[in-house]
Amino acid sequence: MSSASERTFAQHAGPLLRVEDLRVHIPTSRGVVEAVDGVSFSINKGEIVGIVGESGCGKSMLALSIVRLVPSPGRIIAGHVAMAGRDLLSLSEREMRRVRGNDVGMIFQDPSASLNPVMRVGDQVSETVEAHHAVTATQAKQRSLDMLRAVRIPGPELRYRDYPHQYSGGMRQRAMIAVGSVNHPRLLIADEPTTALDVTVQAQIMDLLLAMNRATGTAIMLITHNIALVSHFCSRVLVMYAGRIVESGPTLEVFETPKHPYTDALLKAVPRIEEKSEGGLLPIEGRPPDLARKPRGCAFHPRCPQRKDICLVEEPPPFKIGPGRKARCWLAQETSPFEEDARLSS
Ligand SMILES: Nc1ncnc2c1ncn2[C@@H]1O[C@H](COP(=O)(O)OP(=O)(O)O)[C@@H](O)[C@H]1O
Ligand SMILES: [Mg+2]
Repeated sequence: MSSASERTFAQHAGPLLRVEDLRVHIPTSRGVVEAVDGVSFSINKGEIVGIVGESGCGKSMLALSIVRLVPSPGRIIAGHVAMAGRDLLSLSEREMRRVRGNDVGMIFQDPSASLNPVMRVGDQVSETVEAHHAVTATQAKQRSLDMLRAVRIPGPELRYRDYPHQYSGGMRQRAMIAVGSVNHPRLLIADEPTTALDVTVQAQIMDLLLAMNRATGTAIMLITHNIALVSHFCSRVLVMYAGRIVESGPTLEVFETPKHPYTDALLKAVPRIEEKSEGGLLPIEGRPPDLARKPRGCAFHPRCPQRKDICLVEEPPPFKIGPGRKARCWLAQETSPFEEDARLSS
């Protein structure tokens, strides 16, 4: 079965995914929640990019908006999303369904959100194959069994017929990965795929994602609370705060010399490995703002130990501070070696 021939997208020279000035608003009784507020980034073919930030910073809304699954009443109010050069926001819903599960796979923290509780696990994988490829039921089942084996479901022939509740938490997560990746998507969006799992299973899941990345060149957008995972697996990292990317760049550089005080605070909040904390990040002083009522100026200023007068009134643009590195912080302006074009990047 040639999946390449059934791709929605032709080969393309630019980045695999390009997101430009994306904005997602959710109307509420408190006002409009600006969940994603002018986000721009790209992901190259085969690249693993991490997205970090505290809860409520807009990571999941960003992930959902890329595949146009923002739950109502939220909606994308502006911006562009292009996959291999093709504008996803202008596709019909039918075309978009072809993109999901075929070109872009999705896995979430909670498998129950994407696994159907009343359908056998194996059938769910087969159905995903059949939805996107002209195959016989037998071929789809074979492909499904291969996939269950690939994600290391023990005894796949027997487990094929099980329902999700008959699986352990780790197995359900793997089953979701099987559904999300059976068609070898070019991009896998993984939203906190290991947060609910114990450390051993976390490692197995990450190994699986990495093996898939190596075997099929699938790019991965990895949203996680876990800074260590990003250090190990991601070549680049995007740090999100209050609906925006406040810092981005090669993971090693960003983590070694963070240019945004929020990144610095996040890194300092990481529990030491020997403490074996599984609660995600230790809290940073204060909380992220209500995205319906963002502070004026830099959204981080109320919590920032390094704030200056300008931070209270004017939002910093993304200053370019090195090859592939940007930070939305007035302090970064001073360290920017690219003074003249610092304000040009978006
Ligand atoms: N259904 C909803 N109604 C109103 N606000 C929402 C809804 N879902 C999410 N939000 C708000 O959108 C913002 C972004 O949420 P989310 O993308 O889930 O953040 P993250 O994934 O980083 O934890 C948060 O401030 C959250 O309160
Ligand atoms: Mg989330």
